[in-house]
Amino acid sequence: MAMMRRKLVAGNWKMNGLVKDRDFPSALSDALDAEPRCDVLLCPPVTLLPLMSSHKPDWLQLGAQDCAPQASGAHTGDVSAAMLADLGCTHVIVGHSERRTDHRETNEVVKAKAQAALEVGLTPILCVGETLEERESGEAESVVVTQLLASLPRCAADKIVIAYEPVWAIGTGRTATPEDAQAMHAAIRAAWPGDDRDALRVVYGGSMNPGNADSLLNQPCIDGGLVGGASLKPQDFARIIQSAR
Ligand code: PGA
Repeated sequence: MAMMRRKLVAGNWKMNGLVKDRDFPSALSDALDAEPRCDVLLCPPVTLLPLMSSHKPDWLQLGAQDCAPQASGAHTGDVSAAMLADLGCTHVIVGHSERRTDHRETNEVVKAKAQAALEVGLTPILCVGETLEERESGEAESVVVTQLLASLPRCAADKIVIAYEPVWAIGTGRTATPEDAQAMHAAIRAAWPGDDRDALRVVYGGSMNPGNADSLLNQPCIDGGLVGGASLKPQDFARIIQSAR
């Protein structure tokens, strides 16, 4: 029997947001007409985490966009998973395609980061996704499943979230069709190397917006969204949150 998974809508602010944006959580509350029926997570830049953690509604969880693979030590400029947990974060994004590209993060590095997060009790949001070329050549599913299995640490399905983010849909205004996304999410769940796959949450990312959120979030295997651009605007983010039931 299929398990009811609670949906997760997560905002990824990327490298956007200054101290003046610290009150975003209250603006988001004001934009919602009722308490969300899903889990809601905001991943602002690390500079805003301490400012937001002291001023946010209880239903809003905070997460970071990356963490170091090591626990501590001589790693100038890096932020450890323990530092994020210490600030009240519950989640951390690892393996986002922008980091895989900009910082040449390999599957091995992403796996070490996810492992570092798990060790301090953070939930990693592990991102995977194919390029346009890979989709057009019909290899999308095998590319994504290979990437997933190579970057996945050993853990229970309810301790991690997988974000399917087709690279060609990120920040481009192009989205996967609900049917294509559903098929990929089902493939990811089927590839999960454990018998607890029903508990795995697989969220979709790539130009999710108030106009397409309903049709994506209605799919049985789409357990939420990882939202970039649209999470910067309280009204838009609120509408997406309201689409998740
Ligand atoms: P986007 O970004 O919604 O702006 O496409 C999503 C993401 O990269 O997480």
